[in-house]
Amino acid sequence: MGKTEYYREPYRPQFHFSPKEKWMNDPNGMVYHDGIYHLFYQYYPDDIVWGPMHWGHAVSKDLLHWEHKPIALYPDELGYIFSGSAVVDKANSSGFGTADNPPLVAIFTYHDPIGEKEGKLDYQTQGIAYSLDHGDTWTKYEGNPVIGNPGVKDFRDPKVMWHGESEKWIMTLVAGDRALFYGSDNLKEWELLSEFGKDKGAHGGVWECPDLIPMVVDGTNEVKWVLLISINPGAPNSGSGTQYFVGDFDGTSFATDQTEEKWIDYGTDNYAGVTYNNTPEPDPIFIGWMSNWNYARDTPTEKWRSAMTLPRALKLKQISKDYQLFNYPIEGFNSIIANGSGTTLIVPAGKDHRIDSEKLSQSEIRFTTGSKDFLLRLGNGVNDRLLLTMKGNEGLFLLDRSKSGKVDFQEGFGNIIQRMPVPDLPNGPYEVRIFVDWSSVEIFINNGQYVMTSQIFPNEDYSELTIENLSAETMECIDFQVNGVDRIWE
Ligand code: FRU
Repeated sequence: MGKTEYYREPYRPQFHFSPKEKWMNDPNGMVYHDGIYHLFYQYYPDDIVWGPMHWGHAVSKDLLHWEHKPIALYPDELGYIFSGSAVVDKANSSGFGTADNPPLVAIFTYHDPIGEKEGKLDYQTQGIAYSLDHGDTWTKYEGNPVIGNPGVKDFRDPKVMWHGESEKWIMTLVAGDRALFYGSDNLKEWELLSEFGKDKGAHGGVWECPDLIPMVVDGTNEVKWVLLISINPGAPNSGSGTQYFVGDFDGTSFATDQTEEKWIDYGTDNYAGVTYNNTPEPDPIFIGWMSNWNYARDTPTEKWRSAMTLPRALKLKQISKDYQLFNYPIEGFNSIIANGSGTTLIVPAGKDHRIDSEKLSQSEIRFTTGSKDFLLRLGNGVNDRLLLTMKGNEGLFLLDRSKSGKVDFQEGFGNIIQRMPVPDLPNGPYEVRIFVDWSSVEIFINNGQYVMTSQIFPNEDYSELTIENLSAETMECIDFQVNGVDRIWE
């Protein structure tokens, strides 16, 4: 098949979710229900740039293969449908369904473009809608909005969860420079409980897309709460990014003694990510929007714009006295990787090793090494190159896409070398795992301790990988593999 056929256009992600056509941004309403993972998303069906927002919809049984569904939510007289979440209202607390057929309830932001144009502050409010047919059709609640605007310009992105201990729905919302927590018995009436964050964390831009997640600290019985906050601009490598706080939530308020900024991903292209509600898996599952508001409208695709990150399992680990949030592709993802057998690769000090493979443009690259000074170069016959440099001894990892392919569609896309601090690399061998798709690269170091996600637009498929040993010692890559990854669209 040529590259213009179904899901084979230039730069079309082969194993990531992207809409069939037109504009997409944030993942929304991620909920598991009756064996199905729902993915809703910010969608503008009339253009490949942002516009009046709808909720697009897709479903999956494995978070890998997706079936497209009709648009779930359309704008109405209260406004566009901005980001939000969905829950299974098992006890029918809302009364929208019955005990036998509990409703799916979506909680989203109404954005009133007229109020915005008139220079008002109160143009964002929160609304709800329900579905009694597994998310296929939705009815908006006649009492919308369920939370009116208190005079705050950026007041949006409700993430709702069931809090068993207090037997309440808890909503986390953002309001400009802080998060607000609300409680409810029925998803219709909400009471403001507390706020968090005005003086905490990064504040280079507006807070967006929060998520409050209870997590068991890996290998212990301790429960901590993680608060994800996307922020735009103000990310470590410019533009959009997602920070997190580790703390405690008592059913009313969130508190942390964390003083430093923490980021879930240091690449430029993982934004507005949140986790699934109601999943059977022990670890929360996270999906982010694989783009950045700096250039999301300018990327060189024509039929559609943007994709989602790989679904990732989150783990909270305690390292020395510090809590760190790891994110790593879900286990099930291994089922679409053509598992090869590993070899041990020895690269002498100062030397390099080159591998030529057609597989590289849609691949997993993996190895385990104790080396802390090396360069990985992905390239092709037309001299595009993506440079990934581990400078572990300086506590740094660098991603340079300045010559990775098309970069001139926006000034900042190529000219920043993306930097990631890696202060706590293990002393012994650790895993380096990289996923390359037709327009993205995702790098997971030490099982998701250090992660970078970045879009790339090579002029031709990458077909060469060079590993350069930058240290004065022999570099050993244990279980080195380059594996093809199956495409998910047929
Ligand atoms: C984040 C965001 C949200 C908002 C949505 C609008 O990317 O700005 O805060 O709800 O996108 O599409």
